[in-house]
Amino acid sequence: MAKRLLHVRRLVCFLAVAVLATTTCCQGWGAGDVSALSLVDRLRQIVTAGGGIPVGDGDYCDSWRVGVEANNVRGWTTPPRKCDNYVENYMRGHHYRRDSMVVVDEAIAYAEGLQLSDDAAACWVFDVDETALSHVKFYKKHGFGYHKSDEPAFLEWLIAGKASALPNTVRLYKKMLLLGIKIVFLSDRPDTPELRNATATNLIEEGFDCWEELILRSPNSTTGSVVEYKSGERKRLQEENGLVIVGNIGDQWSDLLGSPEGQRTFKLPNPAYYIDN
Ligand SMILES: *[C@@H]1O[C@H](CO)[C@@H](O)[C@H](O)[C@H]1NC(C)=O
Ligand SMILES: *[C@@H]1O[C@H](CO)[C@@H](O)[C@H](O)[C@H]1NC(C)=O
Repeated sequence: MAKRLLHVRRLVCFLAVAVLATTTCCQGWGAGDVSALSLVDRLRQIVTAGGGIPVGDGDYCDSWRVGVEANNVRGWTTPPRKCDNYVENYMRGHHYRRDSMVVVDEAIAYAEGLQLSDDAAACWVFDVDETALSHVKFYKKHGFGYHKSDEPAFLEWLIAGKASALPNTVRLYKKMLLLGIKIVFLSDRPDTPELRNATATNLIEEGFDCWEELILRSPNSTTGSVVEYKSGERKRLQEENGLVIVGNIGDQWSDLLGSPEGQRTFKLPNPAYYIDN
């Protein structure tokens, strides 16, 4: 039965690649694509400085965010309170998209430069939350920067499976399929049957419709740190499954640290929450 399912998924992957090869899929997904923002968010960009030129507290918050991205600011639970508006404007507006676009452009340029012709084992590891799927819709209701992964409302939201794809990550994912690089999703979400189903359904509905493995965290592995868990899974992929991790992308440093990291790592922006290493 499992073998049959695997076969079906491989076929789906094959069809997905065939469709991709005959369409120009990536038009209009760049950060400069104003039309992709809602009217409300476009107005926010105009009447607030948060997504454009920072002023006042925005100046400080901009520097704080760079500190977060460079992994200099660590171990924080919520963003500084004076940065609430800044974080919201950043994540709802162009700035977040533009920063993500730069990361993904670099990742694509790197992947295109790889010598892959005889390397069927090449794989790329994607984190899920705030990497493949965005929870901005949830934060709009519950506040930006108040995320707690074990909060009942957030778990309900995950189970509802209505998170949206991050457009730049879809672009990267489709490029990986075209290059013949295998996809692995590696998430710290708990591996319950309900959450596995919701995660898979949400990914498929948002365009991430094939993968080699979707790894969630077994209840047995909850004692170790995220870095221990994720690097342990990457080690397994390489040593037991014979894959070569050519790239690894996530929004948290804990997605990227810990040997084997992958041949190159890419950090997507996230000023809303920090997951301890
Ligand atoms: C999720 O569960 C439903 C109901 O059991 C099932 O029909 C569906 O195929 C499952 N989806 C995935 C992606 O596993
Ligand atoms: C988790 O631990 C239980 C109890 O020790 C064991 O029966 C089960 O096989 C383990 N599951 C995995 C996925 O390792």
